[in-house]
Amino acid sequence: MDPTSQIIVALDCDDRATADALVEQLGDACRAYKVGLQLLTAAGPDAVKALVAQGKEVFLDLKLFEIPHSVAAAVRAAGALGVSMITVHGMGGSGIMSAAVEAARDFPGMRVLALTVVTSMTDADLADIGVGDAAGEQVHRLARLAQKAGCHGVIASPQDVATLRSNLGPDALIVTPGVTLPGESPAGHARPGTPHAAIAAGASHVVVGRTVTRAANPATAFHTVRTSLTP
Ligand code: C5P
Repeated sequence: MDPTSQIIVALDCDDRATADALVEQLGDACRAYKVGLQLLTAAGPDAVKALVAQGKEVFLDLKLFEIPHSVAAAVRAAGALGVSMITVHGMGGSGIMSAAVEAARDFPGMRVLALTVVTSMTDADLADIGVGDAAGEQVHRLARLAQKAGCHGVIASPQDVATLRSNLGPDALIVTPGVTLPGESPAGHARPGTPHAAIAAGASHVVVGRTVTRAANPATAFHTVRTSLTP
């Protein structure tokens, strides 16, 4: 796979102007962006439409956790925007994951990814909410459930990728946020890793946020990430 198509830049910003400026700075080098709740709430679906209109792939990170009927409706709304990937919470169970997959069938270009355990959560955080298993075990339980429900892939931390790849097989998407370049401080990442390590372990994509968006020169930072993935 071409390394460029494996990098998804997270547009975690508060307004369209900032997002547009970043997309312009990265230019043709970057083909895929993640739009999350922050930008979607601040700037609305036009931010997504503008990216799709420029030929960018959009990962709409809605992290859906709702009743199945509402999840399906949100997935259809995302499909109508032309997004390529959407997320649903695995912790919501098989019902909502199946509803998302079913709703996505009308949009052949859209993939449903299950969020297993948010990468900032530790075993202690899981214990607090009544999950006795360690984060790693919970990740694998939810990934199996997601695959059974027909999800196209999972979101997982760098440290869970290798086992997930061997459990889920070669076709599953494994999208890995929580990555930082060597030497960077892994702020807010409980189970961090580098983009290179994530891809080498079997991730299909990495999500890179602040490493690129907060860099003095985002285009240079993107190039550094890309080069780090070149075999
Ligand atoms: O940390 P960074 O700025 O690279 O985050 C980019 C994206 O990765 C965020 O939008 C967030 O959804 C996701 N992320 C995550 N777990 C973390 C840190 C970030 O899922 N620990």
